[in-house]
Amino acid sequence: MAHRIAVIGGDGIGPEVIAEALKVIRAAGIDIITTEFDLGGMRYLRDGEILSDSTLNELRHFDAILLGAVGTPDVAPGVIERGLLLKMRFELDLYVNQRPFIGIAPGKTKSHDFIVIRENTEGPYVGEGGVLRKGTPNEVATQGSTNTRMGVERCIRYAFELASTRERKHVTLVHKTNVLTYSGDLWQRTFDIVAKEFPGIGTAYNHVDAACIYFVEDPYRYDIIVTDNLFGDILTDLGGAVSGGIGLASSANLNPSRTGPSMFEPSHGSAPDIVGTGKANPTAAILSAALMLDFLGENAAADRVRGACEPVVEGSTTEIGNAIAARLSGK
Ligand code: IPM
Ligand code: MN
Repeated sequence: MAHRIAVIGGDGIGPEVIAEALKVIRAAGIDIITTEFDLGGMRYLRDGEILSDSTLNELRHFDAILLGAVGTPDVAPGVIERGLLLKMRFELDLYVNQRPFIGIAPGKTKSHDFIVIRENTEGPYVGEGGVLRKGTPNEVATQGSTNTRMGVERCIRYAFELASTRERKHVTLVHKTNVLTYSGDLWQRTFDIVAKEFPGIGTAYNHVDAACIYFVEDPYRYDIIVTDNLFGDILTDLGGAVSGGIGLASSANLNPSRTGPSMFEPSHGSAPDIVGTGKANPTAAILSAALMLDFLGENAAADRVRGACEPVVEGSTTEIGNAIAARLSGK
């Protein structure tokens, strides 16, 4: 049966890279029915819609959402991020952000292969806090971090379940338990309890600052990393930088309970400076589409798509998409 995909090309290079991703999915022989949603900064500037509840409810009926990138320089920071991207993550309960990293780090000769599982609905992203006496010398701003036992546990359990499907069978918790003693303790205790359910899985703990060193100097130590929302955000940019660059970095926002669609997007932004130049690398969007195929149960096709992205193709946006599609259709 055809998979029903909601497509949000978004702003900037988003629509360009998504067009290539859809081309590649079809070349892999996967039957999809796409419905386009015009959302993002440009849409907001036109008529004020960011993501209305009725649009959100329409999105709930799809099997998956494929998103290019959102954000334009003319809209203040946070408006589209909170109103569209984070609203989808929260409202669709996309509690796992899964970002795979395979590549050869600068100065290394062999490839690493690890996945970051980032909690995607809590932490500082919840928006707890506020501001007082704004614009005065006595301004006060607080920004808290929300960590629930339920939210932490389901994310950690997902990481262990994923590790049990992998060869190395290892999970590293990354946090900052030496400073964030309340949330860090919740994460560490929950991690230890869940680990007991998975006796075959090895475990480790790294502080997030040390993990930054290991990403660069010894990425081989990692198989699955599980971490909080903000640490995961920062670490996954570093992960991209040591794995061939942001042009290859894919991302899945998952609702593993499948109470609604999951959302797949490249890690990169809308890059308004290169729109229409053909410089955007669609590989990250194509690899994100492969993650989508995995989640839709099309694992063989997902593997074929990943295989077709190797060796890395150089060229313009459409040249790269065409070359990967041609490898798949055997032309
Ligand atoms: C990401 C992005 C988002 C995040 C922004 C755009 C809200 O950086 O997906 O990593 O911080 O999660
Ligand atoms: Mn980020």
